[in-house]
Amino acid sequence: MPAVVVLGAQWGDEGKGKATDQLGSRVDYVVKFNGGNNAGHTVVVGDEKYALHLLPSGILSPGCTPIIGNGVVVDLAVLFEELEGLQGRGVDTSKLLISSSAHVIPSYNRTLDKVTERFLGKRQIGTTGRGIGPTYADKMNRVGIRISDLFDEEILHDKVEGALAQKNQILTKIYNRRSADIDEVVAELRSYADRVAPMVADTGLVLNRALDEGKNVVFEAGQATMLDVDHGTYPFVTSSSATAGGAATGSGIGPTRIDRVVGVIKAYTTRVGEGPFPTELLDAVGEQLRKTGGEYGVTTGRPRRCGWYDAVVARYAGRVNGLTDLVLTKLDVLTGFEKVPVCVAYDVDGVRHDEMPIDQSAFARATPIYEELDGWWEDLSLARTWEDLPVNARRYVEALEEMSGTRISSVGVGPDREATIVRHDLLG
Ligand code: IMP
Repeated sequence: MPAVVVLGAQWGDEGKGKATDQLGSRVDYVVKFNGGNNAGHTVVVGDEKYALHLLPSGILSPGCTPIIGNGVVVDLAVLFEELEGLQGRGVDTSKLLISSSAHVIPSYNRTLDKVTERFLGKRQIGTTGRGIGPTYADKMNRVGIRISDLFDEEILHDKVEGALAQKNQILTKIYNRRSADIDEVVAELRSYADRVAPMVADTGLVLNRALDEGKNVVFEAGQATMLDVDHGTYPFVTSSSATAGGAATGSGIGPTRIDRVVGVIKAYTTRVGEGPFPTELLDAVGEQLRKTGGEYGVTTGRPRRCGWYDAVVARYAGRVNGLTDLVLTKLDVLTGFEKVPVCVAYDVDGVRHDEMPIDQSAFARATPIYEELDGWWEDLSLARTWEDLPVNARRYVEALEEMSGTRISSVGVGPDREATIVRHDLLG
């Protein structure tokens, strides 16, 4: 029975929430396995629009158990803010489970994220400023605070003291900031302990048992392949494993349990923050994609950088994730272009690259080699079957499928749950 990983195949914001949502009532568990509240997905259910940052999108499906896995970093204030927001709109959130091994984002890491960015000046990453990077750094540096630490004041105090022994030096001596007060930090974290306690579980065990019983489990990645700390455009990446392997380490299941890996990919490309982006359009066409596609960050409100579809990125995502399916989103945004260029390879210093250059500085110099496909003028938003699509839109999808090397199992034609053309069942 399927354990399905759903991840972004580009630089994020591909519409993963919608893909998970599409699996709908057949999904028993939705697991977030990496990242934190740097993510942002908008899910539209009927007339209601929900913007989620930390919670897995499965929280909106009544029969589904949402899980925050050990690979996630949790900002407890945001957790309760989102839960209360949903409860206020009548959503039942009582099934949520959180791994006791997930790390928490202490307030000093939010401060450090922001001041580090300022300090980096033109070398800045363009982070979301949510404390993600410093919290993952603490985890690797073995000075992190985990959910399980919240329940014993003495242990918590000890760990915060250990972390601040380094952090306060950095805050005061390098960044000229006020130091963080141990007791204040401990008191803030402790203030969440009683409320979080009923949600805490050995989520790895829960998930393995669920898979043994043949339940459907969706592992939902935050961020995306090109922002993955190992496989993305380092250093302009997030600090976690957003590719398929991260689903195993970030949730406590073995890789052999994964049946399907679904890459969500836009019919064009967007990116937030700094870093190379070969097909970026800095002209009126880019602006048109931004406007029509509503390309503004859910988390930060920043305008997203926009450009044409990049089949080299799609093939790379297929390879590093072992994709079995692609879910193509936002095809409707491309309506109204005479020709739609698609990047099939890069030119780096006069040399053609059909695959991602291994060297980041070569990638930064890559210019796209385009193939132009015929556009269409019809409104796609009411299309519900493959045959409803105009012939050139169908040809566009088929061309992307061919160039990307992975079958396109569904096509999104609008923001609503129903505005999707399903070609292959993701759980079948
Ligand atoms: P951080 O994850 O806040 O450390 O930011 C690192 C990089 O990842 C920045 O370029 C962010 O804009 C980008 N990023 C983080 N989360 C998302 C997301 O959910 N969608 C798109 N970009 C993201």
